[in-house]
Amino acid sequence: MKAAVLKAAGLDNLEIVDLPEPTPGPGEVLVRINAASLNYRDLLTFQGGYGSRQKQADLIPLSDGAGEVISVGDGVSAFKPGDRVVPSFFPNWRDGPPTAEKLAGALGGQADGVLCEQRVLPADALVPTPANLTDVQAAALPCAAVTAWSAVITQGGVGPGDVVLTQGTGGVSLFALQFAKLAGASVIATSSSDEKLEKARALGADHLINYKSVPEWARAAREITGGRGVDHVVEVGGAGTLEQSIKAVRVGGAISLIGVLSGPNHTFRLPLVVTQNIRMQGVTVGSTAQLSAMLRAVGVHGVEPAVDKVYPLAEVRDAIEYMSAGRHFGKVCISL
Ligand SMILES: NC(=O)c1ccc[n+]([C@@H]2O[C@H](COP(=O)([O-])OP(=O)(O)OC[C@H]3O[C@@H](n4cnc5c(N)ncnc54)[C@H](OP(=O)(O)O)[C@@H]3O)[C@@H](O)[C@H]2O)c1
Repeated sequence: MKAAVLKAAGLDNLEIVDLPEPTPGPGEVLVRINAASLNYRDLLTFQGGYGSRQKQADLIPLSDGAGEVISVGDGVSAFKPGDRVVPSFFPNWRDGPPTAEKLAGALGGQADGVLCEQRVLPADALVPTPANLTDVQAAALPCAAVTAWSAVITQGGVGPGDVVLTQGTGGVSLFALQFAKLAGASVIATSSSDEKLEKARALGADHLINYKSVPEWARAAREITGGRGVDHVVEVGGAGTLEQSIKAVRVGGAISLIGVLSGPNHTFRLPLVVTQNIRMQGVTVGSTAQLSAMLRAVGVHGVEPAVDKVYPLAEVRDAIEYMSAGRHFGKVCISL
């Protein structure tokens, strides 16, 4: 079977190779991976950006894939050949709150990922694919959509009438937009591009702010809410956006800390967080149970992920370069 293998850190060390076909052991499932998708995390992984927290040599990259069951090992009754499945980002995090043990072994990081034609995975780290999704669409979901689900639904408890602010039009932010709309909230979408903002409007965004032409976007967001502030900020910008996020959120509101796209270190005004009773919560993707809950909602409501481009495996480097350039809207996928 064909697989992409990162022999060592650096995109020049990414090779497409032939590997022996794997066999499922007890409790395991052999999955034919039909599609995969890229996340910002993968761009760092290709550069060895996670240091000792990623497999150092011969890593099969990417956490996000979808496909169908080829065969099952002894003791597996939940799946049969032909079933369509999506693997969980954290195969060891089945349910409940995270622990260090549950967060170990993330696909495409500490453990091999899914950019390969066949992959053996534990049966209880797989979730059925909703019938409304193609494999390419399903492959867009495990990391970015579970993260958005954790932020907006599980941790955020966003509900009807709330105002949610999303940053940029990458994978996490567009899923956050879609889930906030499912929950009955209104959404203020921000982007560096007016063209992308119009696409966000088509996905349901109620208000649009270009964060490049309106650098003080917190003020614009507060004006939209009549001065009250937004209920929830889905924070992916990090150092360059946190101050605006704190200014944009209402008294008692929440900020989901998800990404550091504009840098990791920031000095911010602690008194404002304290006196405004702001809740800041880190988010680390989510469990298999959260993947399952999110996929059920996607199936029931017919949510369609925003898939920007699909590349064949042989052109994976072009896909990485396209995403690195930041021109994408939503997800960049690989067809296997
Ligand atoms: N904690 C977790 O569990 C978790 C899970 C997934 C991702 N993440 C993190 O979340 C971030 C987004 O990941 P992703 O996969 O969704 O990335 P992505 O698809 O590559 O999205 C990147 C987009 O973010 C926007 N952006 C870039 N810099 C920005 C800034 N300074 N302010 C506001 N928006 C900015 C841009 O949108 P426009 O072009 O529209 O401006 C860009 O296209 C990354 O930092 C990633 O590591 C964390």
